[in-house]
Amino acid sequence: MAFNFTDENLKRIENEINKYPVKQPAVMAALWIAQEQNGWISGEVMQEVARILDITSEEVLGIVTFYTMYHQKPMGKYHIQVCTNVSCMLRGGYDIYNQVKEKLNLENLQVSDDKVFSLEEVECMGSCGTAPMIAVNEDYFENLNKEKVEQILNSFKDSN
Ligand code: FES
Repeated sequence: MAFNFTDENLKRIENEINKYPVKQPAVMAALWIAQEQNGWISGEVMQEVARILDITSEEVLGIVTFYTMYHQKPMGKYHIQVCTNVSCMLRGGYDIYNQVKEKLNLENLQVSDDKVFSLEEVECMGSCGTAPMIAVNEDYFENLNKEKVEQILNSFKDSN
């Protein structure tokens, strides 16, 4: 099914395009806006982004597959990203990753059957000074320990 940006999102992309002498550098912003609207980056989304920016679908695919922040399939309502890069790893990032895996019974990039949760092990999210950290959708939770992770996961389970 074809993907079309909302009028508001088209304006946002136009604003991004206007920041540069050519359209191509707006590709990351356009993909982010597309993901906000669609939830993930489908083939149809990539085609539409390519069309708007006058670039090829292959160029868009290269960006989507390089940056893990773009989802290549639908994720859960609460997408949980656990950082296991150096600073987080040294402060228990893998313990937290395993805790989330076990609590939600999910493997990396898996979505729960009820589509509420998905899990992703990620590289540094720029929050090293407050490691270890996880992100739930776009919200960061930092300076974590097992108890805090338990509370966070329960709060999302309860609010659903
Ligand atoms: S290493 Fe985890 S946020 Fe940087």
